[in-house]
Amino acid sequence: MTQDEMKQAVARAAIDYVVTGEIIGVGTGSTANFFIDELGKIKERIKGAVASSEATAERLRSHGITVFDLNDIDTMSVYIDGADEITAQGAMIKGGGAALTREKIVASVAKQFVCIADGSKLVDKLGAFPLPVEVIPMAQAVVARKLAALGGEPRLRVKDGKPMVTDNGCYIIDVLGLQIQDPAVLEAQINDIVGVVTVGLFARRGANIGLLGTVDGVKRLNF
Ligand code: 5RP
Repeated sequence: MTQDEMKQAVARAAIDYVVTGEIIGVGTGSTANFFIDELGKIKERIKGAVASSEATAERLRSHGITVFDLNDIDTMSVYIDGADEITAQGAMIKGGGAALTREKIVASVAKQFVCIADGSKLVDKLGAFPLPVEVIPMAQAVVARKLAALGGEPRLRVKDGKPMVTDNGCYIIDVLGLQIQDPAVLEAQINDIVGVVTVGLFARRGANIGLLGTVDGVKRLNF
């Protein structure tokens, strides 16, 4: 089974968590894209979706799924998204696709976070994947110095020779080599740096359910 086949399998399994007649929160990335394609097949069952990025909104619309503004939604039953790393406790690193801030915002409105990922994303300890931090552009240098003081090696994410710009008009600093002993503590510490928009640690509000693709099928974890 390839990594993509595992992602497709968890995307199909996540359909079981879609609540009929409701608005679904939808993440960003290749696994989320497989989920959107599955959602397209049952679109008559849902009222619509809230997207965590412009790319996700566009893909949802291409399937004829109505995309709602989060400001018009009080609550939603479920948010479904991938992860770059996830622990057996449901803490995650996210933001490989640069959508971490909107992902965290949409997830905060949902009662349940269902994380869909291929099994390679399950780790004992977070941090092998560089930790994405979204920053206000003018604060890029000062934030990078503070991240280095925490023991990491900050690198500004670049695209086509220029700083990559997020959907929010901000930059991403990827931090390598951090020792993440307590993800929830580090999440609060980095979020507290002036100039940081969001850190890609999802620990204080981690996943509630993990659907992980393995060669033996989809493994379900309850956190
Ligand atoms: C985007 C994310 C994605 O969920 C994460 O990068 C995983 O992506 P993929 O499903 O392509 O492996 O956080 O910001």
